[in-house]
Amino acid sequence: MIQELLALSEQLDTDIQTLNDEQSIEAFRLKHLVKKGTLQTFVDRLRDVPKEEKPIIGKTLNEVRRKAEQAWTEAKDSIENQKNTTASIDVTLPSRRQRRGTTHPITQTLDKAIAVFKKLGFDIAEGPDIENDAHNFGLLNFADDHPARDMQDTFFLDEKHGEKLLLRTHTSSVQIRLMTSQKPPIRAIMPGRVYRNEAVSARSLAEFHQVEGLYIDKNVTFAQLKGTLVAFAKEMYGKDLKYRFRPSYFPFTEPSAEMDITCYLCGGKGCRVCKYTGWLEILGCGMVHPNVLRNCGIDPDEYSGYAFGFGIERVTLLTTGIDDIRYLYENDVRVLRQF
Ligand code: DAH
Repeated sequence: MIQELLALSEQLDTDIQTLNDEQSIEAFRLKHLVKKGTLQTFVDRLRDVPKEEKPIIGKTLNEVRRKAEQAWTEAKDSIENQKNTTASIDVTLPSRRQRRGTTHPITQTLDKAIAVFKKLGFDIAEGPDIENDAHNFGLLNFADDHPARDMQDTFFLDEKHGEKLLLRTHTSSVQIRLMTSQKPPIRAIMPGRVYRNEAVSARSLAEFHQVEGLYIDKNVTFAQLKGTLVAFAKEMYGKDLKYRFRPSYFPFTEPSAEMDITCYLCGGKGCRVCKYTGWLEILGCGMVHPNVLRNCGIDPDEYSGYAFGFGIERVTLLTTGIDDIRYLYENDVRVLRQF
């Protein structure tokens, strides 16, 4: 139904272009705005839409209807105005408005996340997309035969100078680059593209974006990690957010946790999107493993630190209500114009 609505929206755009005399304005009203018109048909069908899809379809329908009504009223007023003036050209009439472009939803999320962490005192750092095994796995405490390597399906590249190269599977590799090139205190976020050899579906892509966070100093605590992440999540998802931290496992943090927030669609009651749990996982985090600190030449008896990582596409799906990740990459203006 959303597709049909977007098709109607496009049809409206075409029809709106033709609104230049009384006849076309009346034809527009009869086609779209009357009881038997296109818009009312959608209103009637709203009753049969599954409950969880109602908000997004209802919202889109309202926007489409507002557009139609506004265009019709404006066209009617402008014809009336023309009739009321003796001159055939109304030089005071505003010109047709050009649509202004906007940044892509992924960029909007990234910009917002960067702004939040900047406010919290984090620097921004970047690392290369092509990595070696050590930065992506070894120095992050993944043993050579550790089953955790299977968590992430890696794209391997040809060896260069005897070194195994790969497309980084996570931005955690940039943590290592920072810790081996700077002395603590280190406090930075590291946004970037990551790659996984996964089938493309509504939920996953082979290429996506993550933001990694790292804070290394004396006496860094898990409480500080929680405080930072809760502040971040409230800025992104709203002040009334409900959240929980669940124990988890990552080789490079100990203890490790994942953060969940209440499902945006059902508000925690349980639905298809949250697999009937009421919760959605939004990030992984933990205290940097002493082995990782040691691997980077940092003394774990003197320093401690926390790290976290989250996917930008996932945040974008949650904050926009888009239900298929592929929409973010198809660059269909009918989708992009909504944000
Ligand atoms: N690298 C993890 C992933 O791609 C995400 C992550 C989890 C990053 C925990 C962290 C962390 O820094 O502490 O799934």
